[in-house]
Amino acid sequence: MTSIEADGDSQSSSILSAEEDRTLQKSPTELDLAIETNGLKKAFGDTQAVDGVNLRIPRGTVYGLLGPNGAGKTTTIRMLATLLRPDAGIATVLGHDIVQDAAEVRATVSLTGQYASVDEDLTGRENLVLVGRLLGFSWRDAKTRADELLTAFGLDDAATRQVRTYSGGMRRRLDIAASLVVTPEVLFLDEPTTGLDPRSRNQVWAIIRTIAAEGTTVLLTTQYLDEADRLADRLAVIDNGHVIAEGTSRELKAAVGASTLHIRLRDPERREEAGAILRDVLGVVVHNGTDRDALSASVPHDQEAAAVLTALADVGIRVAEFSLGQASLDEVFLALTGRPAEDTTEEMSA
Ligand SMILES: Nc1ncnc2c1ncn2[C@@H]1O[C@H](COP(=O)(O)OP(=O)(O)OP(=O)(O)O)[C@@H](O)[C@H]1O
Ligand SMILES: [Mg+2]
Repeated sequence: MTSIEADGDSQSSSILSAEEDRTLQKSPTELDLAIETNGLKKAFGDTQAVDGVNLRIPRGTVYGLLGPNGAGKTTTIRMLATLLRPDAGIATVLGHDIVQDAAEVRATVSLTGQYASVDEDLTGRENLVLVGRLLGFSWRDAKTRADELLTAFGLDDAATRQVRTYSGGMRRRLDIAASLVVTPEVLFLDEPTTGLDPRSRNQVWAIIRTIAAEGTTVLLTTQYLDEADRLADRLAVIDNGHVIAEGTSRELKAAVGASTLHIRLRDPERREEAGAILRDVLGVVVHNGTDRDALSASVPHDQEAAAVLTALADVGIRVAEFSLGQASLDEVFLALTGRPAEDTTEEMSA
């Protein structure tokens, strides 16, 4: 039934129409930029929402803007989509200036906003047909395209139901489908999976991967570190309107330097005591895991991990599991911003 599988790597049908398929080509070099910004700024009254953002986003990639609430992610995307005019700085989308050539930019981009924009009273199919008509399709072409998208997004069964009866995940998929009636060269997705359950998130991730694999450059914002980690080819961490780090997820983790120690205790009752010992030995903040027996902390020098084990053994705290690994994106975020990301999912702390 659905052509997009939850695991993301087994799509069989194209989200692009055949004609569009031929016009999009994946770029061979990283230097071929889809989006470039320089000193982009935007204030709302006294709030400096975006404060000099510089981005270089290669064509054909999935690029993540990661940041906490109020960081300036939506404002940045809205400027790039020409919905807001910057106060200062310059930006180009596929070589078009977002202020001087706003019409050209609009012709190449599509935006799925942070909040759903589909009409609740219409059916899924009616919504997509309407978008097609607004874009100048004939009735026949609009219906054909709507049906292609409904199939690709696993919404065939719900096609003739009013959107108000849809689940959050179905609504989100329809919302993204609506922004793909004409395949854009650049797609902006503002928090595409916020509020979705893990299964729906996986489905949306699979859709995004398919779109990117077919040549569209995707710029997405997220507060979910695992989403950024698994979906984005490159990331910019944004805080208080500034880009504070940029690179692949691996590069960002490596830049933090420290490894992370994960410990499981045989006796969860002693977690608090163990946490105090870790703090003393390592001199860092210790995090409690989601499970009652789990603890983690960043380890500045690997040899200190051994000292932790000795100190725990000295007071008779027995360890069930002990591992030392690369920093997680959570820890990267903590190291960069001095505070944990607002929204982290269970699997991140596992
Ligand atoms: N239209 C507006 N009028 C006034 N202030 C605004 C407006 N839009 C955004 N802001 C402020 O600008 C700052 C950045 O907001 P923005 O929506 O870009 O953040 P965000 O990173 O998208 O956050 P979130 O994760 O909550 O969506 C915030 O302080 C916000 O309150
Ligand atoms: Mg936002």
